[in-house]
Amino acid sequence: MSFTSEIAPAAVLLQSVLKSFGADAPAVDSINLDIAPGELVTLLGPSGCGKTTTLRMIAGLEEPTSGAIIIGDEDVTHLPAEKRDVTMVFQSYALFPHMNVFANVAYGLKVARRPRAEISQRVDEALALVGLEAYAQRSVDALSGGQQQRVALARALVMKPRVILFDEPLSNLDAKLRHHVRAEIRSLQQRLGLTAVYVTHDQEEALAISDRVVVMNSGRIEQVGSPRELYRSPATRFVADFIGSANIVPGRWDAGKVTLGPASFEHDQDIAPGAVSVVLRPEALRPAETGLPAKVTQVSFLGASTQVDFDTEVGEVMALLPDDEATGLEVGKDVTLTIVPGGMHLLPPEAAEEAKAVREVA
Ligand SMILES: Nc1ncnc2c1ncn2[C@@H]1O[C@H](COP(=O)(O)OP(=O)(O)OP(=O)(O)O)[C@@H](O)[C@H]1O
Ligand SMILES: [Mg+2]
Repeated sequence: MSFTSEIAPAAVLLQSVLKSFGADAPAVDSINLDIAPGELVTLLGPSGCGKTTTLRMIAGLEEPTSGAIIIGDEDVTHLPAEKRDVTMVFQSYALFPHMNVFANVAYGLKVARRPRAEISQRVDEALALVGLEAYAQRSVDALSGGQQQRVALARALVMKPRVILFDEPLSNLDAKLRHHVRAEIRSLQQRLGLTAVYVTHDQEEALAISDRVVVMNSGRIEQVGSPRELYRSPATRFVADFIGSANIVPGRWDAGKVTLGPASFEHDQDIAPGAVSVVLRPEALRPAETGLPAKVTQVSFLGASTQVDFDTEVGEVMALLPDDEATGLEVGKDVTLTIVPGGMHLLPPEAAEEAKAVREVA
C-alpha cells in the first residue's frame, strides 16, 4: 500500500469553542468552524488573538472551557492528545538535537511501539516525501534551518495524521527560504490530500498557502473565506486593513453609484444606500482624464511598481502604479484619479463603526 493511500484525512468541526484562562476576556471566544477533509485552512490574526490556543485545543494540548471539537465523526473534546491522530509542526521545530534525522522522525512510531521493519519503511517514505532521504544518518545539528523544518514535517507525516497542524512553521527561516518551504508544504498537503490547520500572522503567507483563511481578532472570528474573497470583499474594516493594504475612505452609495467627494463611480454591490466606507486597493487607483481630484504628496520607486501618495478631499490615499503610469508624477502635481472596474468594495457604516470600536479598545 502506498503511503498516501493510508492517510485518512478527517473533517474538523469546532462548535462554540471557548477557552478562558481566568479573569481576562476569553482567549478564544465561542468560535464555530467547519474544515473539510483535505482542506488547508489558515488562522490569521495579530499577536494574542487566539490562534495558537485554537490550534492547541484541536491538538488536545489544551481543553476548551466550553464547546465541542469533532474530528471525523468523533467528539474528541475530552480525548487526550495521543488518541487523536493529530500531529503538530512547531515554529521551533522541537527536534531532539542529540539524535540523528532518522531517530527524530522515528520517535513517534517508537513510542507507539511499532515493529522495527515498519518504522524503517515509514521513516524512509517520510524522508523521501520531504527530499531528505540522503540525510537519515546526519545529526540534526548539522542541518540548515530549512532542512530542520523538513525533518519536523517528516516527523509529523510519518504518523499519517488525520489532521496536521502548523504553528508559524516558517518564522525562523529567512524570507527567500520561507517562500520556498511554504510552497513545498502546500504542494505536499495537496498531493497527500491532508487536512491541515495552519497558523500565521503573516497575511501574505496566509493568502499564498490556503484554501480558506479565518481572520481572527481578540478571540473571535471576523471573517472566513477564500484568499480572493477576503481580499476583494472584506466584511469589516479590520479584515480590509489586515489583508493586503487598503485605503479606506468615506463615501455615499446610491443607485449603482458611489460618490467620493466631488467624483462618482459606477459600482455594483448588495448594500443599503447611504453613508459607506469605501475600500480602495492601491493597485485599483489610476491617474485618468476625469475622477477624484488629487495632489501628489510623495513618489517612491519600488521596483516592480511605484508607490504614489495623494491628498484628496476624502483623505490621503496610496496608489501602486506600473512604472509607465507613474512617469511625470511629481510632488505637488494635481491629477484626477479613477478606480479600475471591480477595484472598490463598500462596507456598511455599522461594520465600519463596530470594527473601529473594537480596534480602539484593543
Ligand atoms: N497558558 C496560558 N495562560 C494564560 N493565558 C494564556 C495562556 N495561553 C495563552 N494565553 C493568552 O491567551 C491569548 C491568546 O494567546 P495565543 O497564544 O492563542 O495567541 P496567538 O494568536 O497565537 O498570538 P501570537 O501570534 O503572538 O503567537 C493571549 O492573550 C495570551 O496571553
Ligand atoms: Mg501563537
